[in-house]
Amino acid sequence: MPVLPIVTYDDPVLLAKADLVHPDHPDIQTLIDDMFDTMYEADGVGLAAPQVGYSLRLFVVDADVITEDQEEAESYGPRVYINPDIEAIGEETWSAEEGCLSLPEIREKVTRPHRIKIRYQDRDFKTCEEEHEGWFARVLQHEYDHLNGVLFIDYLGALRKRLIKNNLEEIRLGNVKTEYQLAPKAL
Ligand code: NI
Repeated sequence: MPVLPIVTYDDPVLLAKADLVHPDHPDIQTLIDDMFDTMYEADGVGLAAPQVGYSLRLFVVDADVITEDQEEAESYGPRVYINPDIEAIGEETWSAEEGCLSLPEIREKVTRPHRIKIRYQDRDFKTCEEEHEGWFARVLQHEYDHLNGVLFIDYLGALRKRLIKNNLEEIRLGNVKTEYQLAPKAL
């Protein structure tokens, strides 16, 4: 199955609010399969449809996450989230370093709610609801943000933003090398 090229900052599709996915959307199951292939090829733990050029409310994840009370990694995937809604549970937040396949070579600390509830449709368009915390909740929030045109760098303070300004400009111009295939830059 084909691996899709990954769109990078600041392609308009990454900055747009994505559209709801209808169960009859043409070739949606193929797109989901291709997104998994693309994510695995790029060694990512999550991939949102806008990152492969589709402005649709859909993301896939496959994450091994080490939870607080056990040293072994628990597997959270492969999972498909369609038309998700996320809300924070409680006030607790925590910070950790994040990266993004659409922002190669940038890693920054981001503060997010610790515990969340997610309502979504699975790939059979069955409505589901789950609660998650810690790292997996972070992955879900990061991917969910992509559906609203939000990137993790949007959470950074003015100083950190200034420090990554040149890196962002290089990504914007297409001057980055990655192990995975990038979409060509529009001129
Ligand atoms: Ni990302």
